[in-house]
Amino acid sequence: MARATWSSKLGFIFAAAGSAVGLANIWRFPYIAGNYGGAAFILVYLLCLALIGFPVFIAEVLIGRSTHTSPSGAFQRIGRTPFWAFPGKLVILTGFLVSSFYSAVAAWILGYLVEAVMGSLSTLTSPEQAIAYHAALMGNPLWGLGFHLMFMTLSVAVLLSGVRQGIERGNKIMMPMLYAILLILVVKGLTLPGGMEGLNFLLTPDWSAITPVAILIALGQSFFTLSLGQGTMVTYGSYMSVRENVVTSCLPVVLMDTGVSIFASLAVFTIAFSAGIKPDSGPGLIFHTLPVVFSSITGGYFVAVLFFLLVFLAAITSQISAMEPTIAYLMDEYKWTRKSAALVCGLGALLLGIPSALSTSWLKDYTLFDLNFLDLMSDLTTSIMIPVGGFLAVVLVAWKWGIPNALKSLREGSEALFAERPWIADYFWFTLKYSAPVLILFVFLNAIGIFY
Ligand code: PFF
Repeated sequence: MARATWSSKLGFIFAAAGSAVGLANIWRFPYIAGNYGGAAFILVYLLCLALIGFPVFIAEVLIGRSTHTSPSGAFQRIGRTPFWAFPGKLVILTGFLVSSFYSAVAAWILGYLVEAVMGSLSTLTSPEQAIAYHAALMGNPLWGLGFHLMFMTLSVAVLLSGVRQGIERGNKIMMPMLYAILLILVVKGLTLPGGMEGLNFLLTPDWSAITPVAILIALGQSFFTLSLGQGTMVTYGSYMSVRENVVTSCLPVVLMDTGVSIFASLAVFTIAFSAGIKPDSGPGLIFHTLPVVFSSITGGYFVAVLFFLLVFLAAITSQISAMEPTIAYLMDEYKWTRKSAALVCGLGALLLGIPSALSTSWLKDYTLFDLNFLDLMSDLTTSIMIPVGGFLAVVLVAWKWGIPNALKSLREGSEALFAERPWIADYFWFTLKYSAPVLILFVFLNAIGIFY
């Protein structure tokens, strides 16, 4: 059977944007931007995207598009030695591990969506109440497990339908919904009494917050949010035709991803400020603070439902992209059918996700290096495996394959663009060869504690 492809350039853009826009944009970005200097952090973050995120994204898509196979075969073919199959398998494993705990975490969002629909969140009127309510849910093992199972089942259902009918169609339906909901929330936030203060807070740069730690956080965020270092973009690139323009297919994805992070911050800040709450409460923000705000504003019930639906849509489109490299690997290397590959991958990620799903209840006292299973998995992948995977991808393209070959491949489908703007070639030469690998190395060494 012929290998699947996207139906068009837009098919790739929607799917890749669905992958990129996830929990890290809506949940994480607002509070890190709030804690590390607002507009100042956003500027540093944009710089990280230009110097690392975008070039690594291009490198990964290029590896996929040039080989039309899963990351394992793709790395090996570009690297031309058996050694390079190893990093290819490593990134597939990373995606698989991420998909196991991402589902366990997204399960809480799905659980809160159900709470919001049932109206339970509207009863929470003080932060103490919201915190106690959240603790009770998180401490209930069946709640975590049940929604983990449900979230995984929904993800597998999309994946079973294939690249065009499942991933592409699912994203083409869910992503516009996500943008529409985000827009409604931003407008609602800006028109709430006191909401403008949130906008002012976000737009006032606090340069004193830009510490080395803030820069490293911005670097790590740019990487995770673009789904780099875990085979996803290599695999999505492998469904792209060589006639497609890689640069103009990838740029809108980065812009959409960044747009969602900034607009989500705007929505969160304006809504929180309108209730007189400074949104710097960290990851608990969406469970502890926002429900209280939702109960105090007019139309709060709908705002709560829309908010958790927004985060759920963002999460499921990312989840499927974390599983697809494993599925593509089983199909390309072992000739499995999509059905078997999707079911086995889903079952594996479900089982491996169970200890993560139980990390806030039954297993919360089982720790290693002071981390529970979920934190261990998340730290292992985001701080170690993802930077290593992204580093290897960019080194493969820029140093093993070589810039002349990479640029030749990048020009295919983009001839007119390169002819009109010759500086694009210089930009990719510099970022692929120097800025991206050097800065990733820097983040990585920091993450494993070399600098302190
Ligand atoms: N890019 C997603 C986010 O911003 O939340 C995270 C993600 C994780 C995507 C794992 C894909 C993936 F395989």
